[in-house]
Amino acid sequence: MAEQRLLFVCLGNICRSPAAEGVFLHLIEREGLEDRFVVDSAGTGGWHVGNPADRRMRAAAERRGIHLPSRARQIELADLTGFDRILTMDGDNLRNVQALARELGNRPGLALIEPMTSHCRRLSASEVPDPYYGGEQGFEDVLDLLEDACAGLLETLLRDER
Ligand code: 4NP
Repeated sequence: MAEQRLLFVCLGNICRSPAAEGVFLHLIEREGLEDRFVVDSAGTGGWHVGNPADRRMRAAAERRGIHLPSRARQIELADLTGFDRILTMDGDNLRNVQALARELGNRPGLALIEPMTSHCRRLSASEVPDPYYGGEQGFEDVLDLLEDACAGLLETLLRDER
């Protein structure tokens, strides 16, 4: 199959989207599929550019054996054509990325933009809630949703290539 380029997007790019990136990387490494994907993450906001993922998010991921290698960056217009799929964590992120896409017009080759939770199979949620101002459990809930959604996403991508 052609290489699939995936970009996970949240607000700050220090909690949810670096976790999505790490969970998806973990999954494809386990399945020996690393060569088939380019995986990255970005934030719609730029306050944390250059920073590693939030310490609480990294600790929660490490407890599940998942490493979060990402450094924060802000999404840019070129990402809309540089990736095949952009997976947004909540409704604000979705609307902000869709607004960027409108700046480019309806040109061919634009990434498919869709909510991450649309790939959940086991859990039912419309958003991955922002854990930044909450307690420890929020980070666990984010990982539960992301593990479910990443598995569903991978299944969809592998099915679509057949
Ligand atoms: P994230 O969480 O969007 O999942 O990375 C946040 C991180 C930082 C802020 C908000 C959300 N902040 O306001 O600085």
